[in-house]
Amino acid sequence: MHIPIKNICCIGAGYVGGPTMAVIAERCPEIQINVIDLNLERIDLWNSEDLDKLPIYEPGLDQIIKKCRGVNLHFSNDLEKNISNADMIFISVNTPTKKKGIGAGQASDLKWVEACARQVAKFSRGYTIVIEKSTLPVRTAEVIQEILSASKNESFSNKEVKNFDVLSNPEFLAEGTAIKDLKYPDRVLIGGDNSKASRLLGDIYERWVPKEKILYTNIWSSELAKLTANAFLAQRISSINSIGALCEATGADVREVSRAIGADTRIGSKFLDVSPGFGGSCFKKDILNLVYLAKYFSLPEVANFWEGVVQLNSWHKDRISKLIVRKLFGTVSGKKIAILGFSFKADTNDTRESSAIKICKNLLDEGANLLIHDPKVNIKQISSDLGTKSIMESKNNSEKKLTLDGGWQKVENIEDAFQDVDAGVILTEWQQYANINWSEISKKMRRPSWIFDTRSIVEKIKVTNSGINLWRLGDGDT
Ligand code: NAD
Ligand code: UGA
Repeated sequence: MHIPIKNICCIGAGYVGGPTMAVIAERCPEIQINVIDLNLERIDLWNSEDLDKLPIYEPGLDQIIKKCRGVNLHFSNDLEKNISNADMIFISVNTPTKKKGIGAGQASDLKWVEACARQVAKFSRGYTIVIEKSTLPVRTAEVIQEILSASKNESFSNKEVKNFDVLSNPEFLAEGTAIKDLKYPDRVLIGGDNSKASRLLGDIYERWVPKEKILYTNIWSSELAKLTANAFLAQRISSINSIGALCEATGADVREVSRAIGADTRIGSKFLDVSPGFGGSCFKKDILNLVYLAKYFSLPEVANFWEGVVQLNSWHKDRISKLIVRKLFGTVSGKKIAILGFSFKADTNDTRESSAIKICKNLLDEGANLLIHDPKVNIKQISSDLGTKSIMESKNNSEKKLTLDGGWQKVENIEDAFQDVDAGVILTEWQQYANINWSEISKKMRRPSWIFDTRSIVEKIKVTNSGINLWRLGDGDT
């Protein structure tokens, strides 16, 4: 019989920590869960009365927060109290690519993970299971273990001494479907050397995940499997996007090619949709991390193989930007272009590594005036991503005009985005873009007008029947 876990603490209230703990809280009402973060603004937003103000948008998340917050799910910045009360601690902090120093541009920056390990070493009491939830380079558990061991057996009261087990339990949720992915995961992966600690974590998941979907491995396999899963998924996207370019050159249609190859059960149909390139905070960083590891272990051929996936993705975004300019008579200077979608995929407000950022920057560099629409991304975020203010935020009134130097503004509804524009570029597959009334939109656009659909979301015939030229990614016929 195991000691039941009564108190969980999660360090990091981000896209993973927030939804993951919300689902555990909902499924395990007898466990008290505290999600802590250094970022006070984020914690305040998690605690806001108005659920529309939660710091991240995920379908279904608000309802769980409404049900569990203040009952067995709590958000705070009190690290000391919540770490010391916890039986189990999830480390769910950011692990971005290093910007400088050894491994810059490829290796993960582990400073936040290390800081967590030090906080845990300092504040924890008694026996604590420490879980890597963040995506980490293989063998990071060793670093955490080493930091924790330095304070192991330290006594904090007359009776108890500190003691730890470290497990790896990577997260496989995708943004936009996080709640569904957490409730019905394909698998849960638990890597660890101590079978008792692994079982305690497994017991929690067993409340709602079928036993056969909980995989137990050694700790290094678990760490490496997470990086590999993301690399394989991203590789499929680069593969299909590369074939998309070939389709355009040969008259083939990538949607038909996708369907044909995906029907082979050995290949499978998922992750074969062409797009403006994969975005999101993880694919690029995790592949680069894999590249770094391969180089570190003197495997240059392995490193080059995976680096190609990222290079193709980056080339692809530039290819789309150049193609738009070419179709608009070789110049977009002073022209108005509607941008539909800024998040890296639908159903999230996350813009990290969104292809929209690079494509918009390329078009702005060419002097275009962009009218950007996105149902969930706010103007502040767009401004920070593009590194410039919207022309409407400009202090100087004379600058609040569209110019030959280019600029951007955010528009709140789709119709406004199309007033006098030469083109519309669909970059995110928000469902509402599938239902646009193109014959109405066409009346607002300057002629000749273009739609560039990078997500295969529009109905070809509806656009072309409205007198608009259509280019669809990977369609050799447009
Ligand atoms: P995030 O940036 O949204 O959240 C991380 C949070 O940790 C931030 O709010 C930050 O303030 C906080 N933090 C950092 N150091 C801290 C410290 N010492 N003490 C307290 N709080 C601290 O990141 P995320 O998207 O949630 O990703 C977290 C990890 O999960 C990453 O390793 C990522 O690769 C992995 N992951 C992400 C996803 C995803 O869909 N975003 C999916 C699977 C795995
Ligand atoms: C991805 C993985 O799917 C998750 O399993 C993983 O946990 C997560 O990364 C992570 O580690 O962060 P996420 O990035 O949230 O999840 O979203 P995805 O659905 O994988 O989409 C990533 C990018 O690929 C998006 O820009 C999306 O538009 C693009 N994509 C996806 C395509 O271009 N084509 C496809 O067929 C599928």
